[in-house]
Amino acid sequence: MNKLYLWGIIITAAMLGFTYMSVAGSKGGLNSDIINILTITGAASLVVITVFVVVKYVRQMQTDKADGELVGQNWDGIGEYKNELPFGWAITYLLIMIWGMWYFTIGYPVNAYSQIGEYNEEVVTLNNKFEKDFNEKMSTFSKEEKAEYMINMGESVYITECKICHGLTADGIDGKSTNLNEWGSKKAIVDVINNGSKGLGYALGDMPAGTASEADAIDIAVYMSNGLSGETGSAAFAVSCAACHGSDGKGMGGMSPDLTIYDTPAFVVDVLNRGKKGDIGKMPAFNRLNDKQKEAVGAYINSLSE
Ligand code: HEC
Ligand code: HEC
Repeated sequence: MNKLYLWGIIITAAMLGFTYMSVAGSKGGLNSDIINILTITGAASLVVITVFVVVKYVRQMQTDKADGELVGQNWDGIGEYKNELPFGWAITYLLIMIWGMWYFTIGYPVNAYSQIGEYNEEVVTLNNKFEKDFNEKMSTFSKEEKAEYMINMGESVYITECKICHGLTADGIDGKSTNLNEWGSKKAIVDVINNGSKGLGYALGDMPAGTASEADAIDIAVYMSNGLSGETGSAAFAVSCAACHGSDGKGMGGMSPDLTIYDTPAFVVDVLNRGKKGDIGKMPAFNRLNDKQKEAVGAYINSLSE
């Protein structure tokens, strides 16, 4: 036994010496990097502990005389001791079970770090700040200033988010997407009636082409541009459009687009919330824009077609 402890002391001393040298001789190699030193020290400790434990128990096995109470049964003469469950072991087992349950229920899924979560939190914080600043600024503006401010803000949103598909001048880049200078105009309404519309994902699906005659389409465009009022086109609208858009044009509670807000920022906001599948490609829903930004870009687009 004494020899064993001697070995333990020698190895520990060697380890400490080694650690000391690696700290002191800190230029190059295992230099002053604390992580390196800790790792090496840790590894060396593991080796020492393992050797110590193995040697100790191998020796104990050679010399130990069994004593203690046997359980009643034996199997071909091989018996088993009555061993009390060690208290520390039992406690550790219980704690690990509790920790495991906590980890897999409340701990991990709820409190796990996630980059997406962090991003979302930042977006919420910044949007709240934006909203606060925005409202403060707005409260000092006159009506005209407010409108101008929204259009300017909308233009910068447009340039960052929409230009790539609709073009810097919003002409739709040779038909690759909607020409927003014309969108909402009488000509565009006639186009929608003649060609149909699709891709916004309303419950009624797509709007088929040619639901009204070409002559009626022109009248209906006038009717719509007058905010769904006036004599012209009123009857044609009731015949050709009301079945799907409702006689008041409000879209029958979300079954189809609300035409009373067509050619207003609110309709653009609706388009941005839905996205639109065109013939050439898909315009994604713009969930990353906040409500004010959507409204602003709607105001900007509305200002283009006047
Ligand atoms: C990835 C390309 C892409 C981007 C980015 C994009 N759009 Fe579009 N947009 C399209 C396409 C494609 C259509 C549909 C053309 C069609 O119907 O054939 C469209 C249609 C529209 C329409 C007409 C919707 C309707 O119902 O007629 C509006 C309004 C519009 N976009 C506004 C915007 C605004 C505002 C932005 C920026 C926030 C934007 N778009 C960004 C591709 C895009
Ligand atoms: C069969 C049902 C149906 C009929 C009839 C119908 N619509 Fe539609 N309309 C829809 C649906 C559905 C949409 C949404 C289509 C989409 O996803 O783009 C729509 C979209 C529209 C739009 C928006 C297009 C855009 O730019 O996004 C306009 C404007 C419109 N309809 C006007 C009319 C007018 C005017 C009439 C009558 C001449 C009419 N609709 C008849 C179902 C109909």
